Amino acid sequence: MHVLSVSSLKGGVGKTTVALGLASAAFARGLRTLVVDLDPQCDASTGLGAFGVSTKNVADVLSSPRHAVVHDSIVASSWGKVQSGHIDVMLGSPKTLNFDHPNPTLRDLWRLEEALSLVEREYDLVLIDTPPSINGLTRTGWVASDRILLVSEPSIFSVVAADRALKAINELRKGLTPRLRALGVVINRVRQGSHEHEYRIGELQNLFQGEYLTILLDEKATIQQAQGAGRPIHTWPGDSAQQVAKIFDDVLDAALVSFQLVDETRTAKKEKRFARFSRVLRGKQIDKDLETGPAQN
Ligand SMILES: Nc1ncnc2c1ncn2[C@@H]1O[C@H](COP(=O)(O)OP(=O)(O)OP(=O)(O)O)[C@@H](O)[C@H]1O
Ligand SMILES: [Mg+2]
Repeated sequence: MHVLSVSSLKGGVGKTTVALGLASAAFARGLRTLVVDLDPQCDASTGLGAFGVSTKNVADVLSSPRHAVVHDSIVASSWGKVQSGHIDVMLGSPKTLNFDHPNPTLRDLWRLEEALSLVEREYDLVLIDTPPSINGLTRTGWVASDRILLVSEPSIFSVVAADRALKAINELRKGLTPRLRALGVVINRVRQGSHEHEYRIGELQNLFQGEYLTILLDEKATIQQAQGAGRPIHTWPGDSAQQVAKIFDDVLDAALVSFQLVDETRTAKKEKRFARFSRVLRGKQIDKDLETGPAQN
C-alpha cells in the first residue's frame, strides 16, 4: 500500500477535483483504491457517491483507530456500480473539525497511520483529500503519507500558499517522518492565453524545479459535469474528458514511479534522532518478507 495526500493550504483550488481525478485513474487501472476524506466539508465522499451510508466515519477512526471502527468507516463508492473495480471511501464527517487543532499532539498526528496500517493489505493506493489549512487534520494526513501532491492555481496567493506548503512538508519530514516527500504540483484551472497565468505558472515552475513534478490542468467544463453526475472522469464521454483523464493518468504514473524510490524510512528509523518520534507502522510486512525471503510454493 502507498499513500498520497492531495493538499493545498489555500481553499477552492481543486484538491478534491484532483483527488477524484486520481481516484478515477486508479480505478480505471484496476488498483484497489481507498479515498480518505479528511475534509470536514466531505466533498470527496459526496463525489464518490458515498455520503452518510455507514455507521462510522473518519472522525470515529481518529478518536479510536481500532480494527472494527476502521472497517465500519469504509464504504464502497457508487462508481463501482458503473464499472467493475475496487474503490472505497473512508467517510468524511463535519466532526473531524474537532481534530483540526493548530497544535496537535504527536499521538494525534499518528492516528491515521495507525488506522491505515490495519488495512495495509487490502489496498494498493490510498488517496487522502485534506482540508485547506496546515492544522491538525492536514498534518495527520501528511504523517500517514508517503507522498504529497500539491494543487495550486496560477494566481499570486496560490503561489505563496504553495511555497508555504513546500516548506511545511520539508519541516515535517526532517522532524517527524523521513519517508515523506512532495511529489510536485498540479497547476489547476489554467486559461490558455492569459498573461497573468503564464507569469504565475513560470513562478510555480521555478519553485518546483528539480525533482518535482509540475503538470498543468486547464479550466474545463467537463470536469464539473462529471462531478455533478457523480461519475469518474474516465467514463465521461467526449474528447475533453479524455484529455483530462490522460492528465490524471500521467500524474498517477509519476506517483507510482515515485513510490518505488528507495524508502529511507526503514534505515532512518534506526537513527537515534528519529527513534523518539517515528511511529511508522505501514511497511512492516515488507521487512518480514525480506527477512524470510520470498514465499515458496
Ligand atoms: N480544472 C477545472 N476546471 C473546471 N472546474 C474546476 C476545475 N478544478 C476545479 N474546478 C471546480 O472548482 C470548484 C472547486 O474545486 P474543488 O472542490 O476541487 O477545490 P478544493 O480545493 O477541494 O476546495 P476546498 O478547499 O473547499 O476543499 C469545484 O466546483 C470544481 O468542480
Ligand atoms: Mg475539497
